[in-house]
Amino acid sequence: MLVITKLIDVFELKNRINIEKKSLGFVPTMGALHNGHISLVLNSIKENDYTIASIFVNPTQFNNKTDLLNYPRTVDKDIEILEKAGCDFVFIPDLNEMYPEEDTRIFDFDGLDEVMEGKHRPGHFNGVAQIVTKLFEAVKPDRAYFGRKDFQQAAIINFLVKKYMPEFNIKIITCDIVREKDGLALSSRNILLTPEHRKAAPIIFKTLNLFSKVYSDIKPQKIIEKVTNEINAVELLKVEYFEIVDNETLMPVNEIIPGKTTGCIAVFAGNVRLIDNISF
Ligand code: PAJ
Repeated sequence: MLVITKLIDVFELKNRINIEKKSLGFVPTMGALHNGHISLVLNSIKENDYTIASIFVNPTQFNNKTDLLNYPRTVDKDIEILEKAGCDFVFIPDLNEMYPEEDTRIFDFDGLDEVMEGKHRPGHFNGVAQIVTKLFEAVKPDRAYFGRKDFQQAAIINFLVKKYMPEFNIKIITCDIVREKDGLALSSRNILLTPEHRKAAPIIFKTLNLFSKVYSDIKPQKIIEKVTNEINAVELLKVEYFEIVDNETLMPVNEIIPGKTTGCIAVFAGNVRLIDNISF
């Protein structure tokens, strides 16, 4: 696997791939890789001639300095994991490469960023859009892979490529959530959990799963109440929000329509913030 650190080398690589008339799949990440990330890489390998991943902890999407400082960084191990998975290239730029000067671009997502993660992490999705557009402009992939774990991010990226870079013709592929055996969604932040919080965390998905099945014929507001109370009853967990939204508009719904509605949750386990979601 070729490790690339400069944008110019990514441009050149893409030119060579174009000349070969081969397809390129792209998996952007912030590193501390786990099987969730690797599932995206494996999907890309299946569907493209070449696959490139990127590892860059993007400061502009962190609205909390401590969160950025504490974000796990395991680059050497990440390279090994990607190589073993069969990834062809990895792009690992430094801060100056991606932000030689401050990025002042403001994106408009038609309200998609005003709910849930966007509401609780102001500026987060603008930062995601800044880095993802820079990466897309360099890599120019045929397909880019995102996880359903970050449900709102996937919706916003879909909107972003249509509105801001239609000429690039990038197909966004959303892949299923990979979970631990006990149901906890894999996340780079899981390694920051204390043993006690780690033990409590699977209750999040268990509760989502239970109430999505048992109560799917009840009003969303009632489910929201039940899920929130059930999780908050666990001393080590605190729900930040739980919303049941339309898959397209991300707006809260008054009625659950199977296949078109998703329940999205953010929970603090100590000072680690975990997100998860379930399709209804
Ligand atoms: P990061 O959190 O590293 O996630 C990279 C990709 O892996 C995202 O598309 C995310 O949804 C996916 N992913 C994470 N956990 C997953 C799981 N358990 N199952 C399936 N997919 C999972 O998301 C980001 O980085 C950044 O915002 C980024 C898009 C790279 C921009 O900086």
